[in-house]
Amino acid sequence: MKTTHARARPLLAATAALVLSIALLSCAGKQTPRDRITDPGEMIYNGLTVSGVACYKCHNADGTGTWRGANLAERVPKLTDPAIEKAINEGPGMMPAFKGKLDAQQMAALTAWLRDRFH
Ligand code: HEC
Repeated sequence: MKTTHARARPLLAATAALVLSIALLSCAGKQTPRDRITDPGEMIYNGLTVSGVACYKCHNADGTGTWRGANLAERVPKLTDPAIEKAINEGPGMMPAFKGKLDAQQMAALTAWLRDRFH
């Protein structure tokens, strides 16, 4: 029986896929752990409140950005609060749009945290 080889191949493919996804993940932004966050806006930013909303993945926990997202420490000071909300809703350039994912209170908390963190 030649089953040994036939079985080894999917395992090899799965291992390669796992290694590749770890490599890709390591390029993504770092997340601030839940136990180090007290601000509700920072919770949202770090993907801990609303599923599908995880700003840190592209902008990094500290906002310095990654290859996927801009440096917010440079961007936020140039934006008004409504312009930040517009960016979150519409997603400029390669950023996805988050319209409808955050309620008014969550949007306000996120914007307030970004303003407070990056001025
Ligand atoms: C998939 C990656 C990605 C995610 C997730 C993401 N962004 Fe972005 N963001 C970007 C990119 C890329 C830009 C730069 C867009 C441009 O100006 O071309 C950007 C720009 C911005 C800007 C600056 C806009 C401007 O007009 O200068 C703000 C503010 C911002 N993002 C906030 C957020 C917030 C808050 C979240 C979470 C709700 C978020 N982003 C999620 C990729 C991302």
